[in-house]
Amino acid sequence: MSSAKTKIAVIPGDGIGPEVLREAVRVLERVRETHDIELELTHFDWGAEKFLRESISLPAGALEMLAKDFNAILAGAFGDPRIPSNQHAEDILLGMRRGLDLYINLRPVRLLDVRLTPLRNARVEDIDFVVFRENTEGAYCGAGGFLKKGTADEIATQEELNTRRGVERIIIAAFEYARAQGRKRVTMADKSNVQRFGGDLWQRVFKEVAKDYSEIEAKHQYVDAMAMFMVLDPAQYDVVVSNNLFGDILTDLGAAIQGGLGLAASGNIHPGRVSLFEPVHGSAPALVGQGIANPVGAILTSAMMLEYLGHKKVSQAIERAVGESISQDETTPDLGGSLSTEQAGAAICKRIVSL
Ligand code: NAD
Ligand code: IPM
Ligand code: MN
Repeated sequence: MSSAKTKIAVIPGDGIGPEVLREAVRVLERVRETHDIELELTHFDWGAEKFLRESISLPAGALEMLAKDFNAILAGAFGDPRIPSNQHAEDILLGMRRGLDLYINLRPVRLLDVRLTPLRNARVEDIDFVVFRENTEGAYCGAGGFLKKGTADEIATQEELNTRRGVERIIIAAFEYARAQGRKRVTMADKSNVQRFGGDLWQRVFKEVAKDYSEIEAKHQYVDAMAMFMVLDPAQYDVVVSNNLFGDILTDLGAAIQGGLGLAASGNIHPGRVSLFEPVHGSAPALVGQGIANPVGAILTSAMMLEYLGHKKVSQAIERAVGESISQDETTPDLGGSLSTEQAGAAICKRIVSL
């Protein structure tokens, strides 16, 4: 990629994906003006509609095209009740995560306003950590099968894959981030008391990698205990690292304690390569078409993307605007406000200024 312009592939997807991404795109258009950055956005219609119409999920050659022609990908959500197998979402979303080798799923959990958390007595400074979710293997490897399907003797196996290389690189990424950001502790969550093989690998690699980061406390917690402590004592977390499935579950919990799924941002990252940014939430079929989906998760996701692309000041300007609009109650109903998706997006855009 050798162009002054930053090229972004926009994939709105299904359900509320297009509704929230419309506002994220408005924000990108706004910062193009306020911060004079050159962004070129190209939209792709991959998602349930295309899949139902043309039987195409992730088009042939898509991954190569994304890697060659784009700096980053901004996606909405994938999932549609008309496709119960979730085949298209698996092909598109997991296809990009695996196919582009986006091994870090970076999911910050940060409380922007004390009124947003459902946790009694939690202060803003108590909820501020980052989850490093392994994003290419584990329970998401698609291995397994049926025997005697549909009979009373049916057997279904669902395997989990842990490679030394895969475990090591996500743990190293967590420690590197902790070091770079001056975070004091990395907590690794697993279920090694039951999952004796994969868990054992995670334990050994965690201890080995930790030796190279003597200034950072390396702590282990069983994932069930972590789910409890995220509610009872979230202040103890700085950087959390876990496998694909546990990371998925813990980050919905993380979203809840920061105010809800409508707020949570994420990046699917392979440092130095084209990476994919998407809100943590899904397509929320029940909200579609009502204009009430919260666009903040998608907007903070676009800020994360810009930071990844080296535009830290712009990213901070967006985060500042989001913080201000929340403190002024310019919010959608999930946060207690009365604004529509579009009004909430516009309120944030208005507050983006170049300092
Ligand atoms: P979901 O995240 O879509 O919604 C769960 C609930 O969270 C919603 O009912 C709503 O109350 C709330 N919510 C989510 N986003 C919101 C927003 N922006 N504003 C306000 N409230 C919001 O999860 P689900 O209902 O379990 O899944 C629905 C579909 O989305 C499924 O097909 C699932 O597979 C898919 N999904 C996709 C992604 C993704 O593409 N990254 C992530 C999660 C779920
Ligand atoms: C997420 C979602 C996805 C996941 C689904 C839709 C495949 O829940 O991004 O958190 O499980 O990773
Ligand atoms: Mn999830």
